[in-house]
Amino acid sequence: MKVLPRLFENNRRWAAARRASDPDFFTRLVGQHAPEFLWIGCADSRVPANEIVGLLPGELFVHRNIANLVLHSDFNCLSVLQYAVDVLKVRHIIVCGHYGCGGVTAAMEDGSHGLVDNWLRPIREIRRARAAELSRLGTDQKRLDRLCELNVVQQVMNVANTTVLQGAWDRGQEVTIHGWIYSIGDGLLQDLDVCISSRSELKVLEDREDR
Ligand code: CO
Repeated sequence: MKVLPRLFENNRRWAAARRASDPDFFTRLVGQHAPEFLWIGCADSRVPANEIVGLLPGELFVHRNIANLVLHSDFNCLSVLQYAVDVLKVRHIIVCGHYGCGGVTAAMEDGSHGLVDNWLRPIREIRRARAAELSRLGTDQKRLDRLCELNVVQQVMNVANTTVLQGAWDRGQEVTIHGWIYSIGDGLLQDLDVCISSRSELKVLEDREDR
């Protein structure tokens, strides 16, 4: 099983089915790359970006990492963001977290998880900053769910504070950032109502979250 034949069979079937329903599908894709959306999501295998929003190849530019973080020192994520905004000119950036996120769970726990604890450090900071709000929730499950949501909100603000977005808005480019959360248990997305499409909307969101 060195060559994973099952996956290649799946691939041939998938390509044939796609050609059967749209003979020019792949030829069209070769000619252009013009997705309208950038997805920044968790690497979790249960949250397959294109599939859950019903988008085809060519329609969604995707960046995924553990716990859908947008860090100002992460050149991987920032490069994706810059290419998406400056070159592809996406109109929407979706930061999508999910309930039951292993990364957020690890950041909630006190134990050590090795290298990944360094990556997850920013979530511990959110947990610390919002400790009062989290402690008012009745159960650990509710605290974890809320931290998953708060993490998305923070990453939306992080996207908005990058030089890439600030520059785009200063040039008058229309690009909106959305914060969503996905429930693995029922397959449904929820909008966290933190849409921002300008510096002034970012300020309103930051003031609201600082309270
Ligand atoms: Co996750």
